Amino acid sequence: MSVLSPHDRVVILTGAGISAESGIRTFRGDDGLWENHRLEDVATPEAFQRDPALVQRFYNARRQQLLSPELAPNAAHQALARLERALPGRFLLVTQNVDNLHERAGSEAIIHMHGELLKARCLHCQHVSKASADLGPHSHCSACDQRGRLRPHIVWFGEVPLQMDDIYQALSQCTMFASIGTSGNVYPAAGFVEVANAAGAHTIELNLEASRVRTAFAEHREGPASQLVPAWVEELLAEQ
Ligand code: NAD
Ligand code: APR
Repeated sequence: MSVLSPHDRVVILTGAGISAESGIRTFRGDDGLWENHRLEDVATPEAFQRDPALVQRFYNARRQQLLSPELAPNAAHQALARLERALPGRFLLVTQNVDNLHERAGSEAIIHMHGELLKARCLHCQHVSKASADLGPHSHCSACDQRGRLRPHIVWFGEVPLQMDDIYQALSQCTMFASIGTSGNVYPAAGFVEVANAAGAHTIELNLEASRVRTAFAEHREGPASQLVPAWVEELLAEQ
């Protein structure tokens, strides 16, 4: 499938690879985040129970990076925002990323299934609010005013990802599913392509190298997202 028809409904899944060229480290590549940290120490509910200060430090450092002025969306983020504008009401962007680069590129129909680095959740009242740069025991919840009960609004290993019903509904109705910049190591995201295939959608993987679920895709393009994604979107929008 190359050019979009007025009946097409598109679901996109992105992973850490789409933000790599903006300067945010991926998880499993060389010098990936999990190379320098045992994920059991920083990305599980047990880790937060055991050493909340270590977990807060890990996410505060990643949040600081997001707030730096040099960090900007790249051409891949911008191309997806263009594609969304061409498909009003027929486009959903599901990201495993917890950065805000899709928003900063202009995307709006976004589901952050692994949460958002710039948000905090209160363990007492579950209120989700904007996270301060240095979340910690001194932080207050703006809803219940409890002190020291705020955690990063991040879905950790072993926790249930967010808005899964909305995601599966969109996948079961889509005519095209594209996976961009994800290694296919973590479920349920790695299984989305099977749901799209069952819906009869055209499935395409755009990635630096083959992911663990490459064989499930009808089409593959290999290379950096900042080159692949704009070219792919231009093709889809030709003659629109
Ligand atoms: P997991 O090992 O808990 O498995 C998650 C689910 O995927 C389980 O139901 C498992 O049965 C299923 N699954 C695993 N391998 C499968 C396969 N080959 N085929 C079909 N199903 C398979 O996953 P996890 O890596 O511990 O992550 C748990 C959740 O935490 C994930 O859903 C992920 O969204 C989230 N997570 C978030 C972060 C973050 O930093 N935000 C990091 C890791 C995981
Ligand atoms: N362009 C396209 N793809 C890229 C680029 C790039 N410039 N750079 C890296 N990639 C690809 C890598 O080849 C790899 O397949 O992006 C993928 C990144 O994989 P991971 O580091 O595993 O990141 P991701 O797939 O998003 O991890 C899924 O696991 O640890 C959890 O919650 C975390 O959301 C994350 C989830």
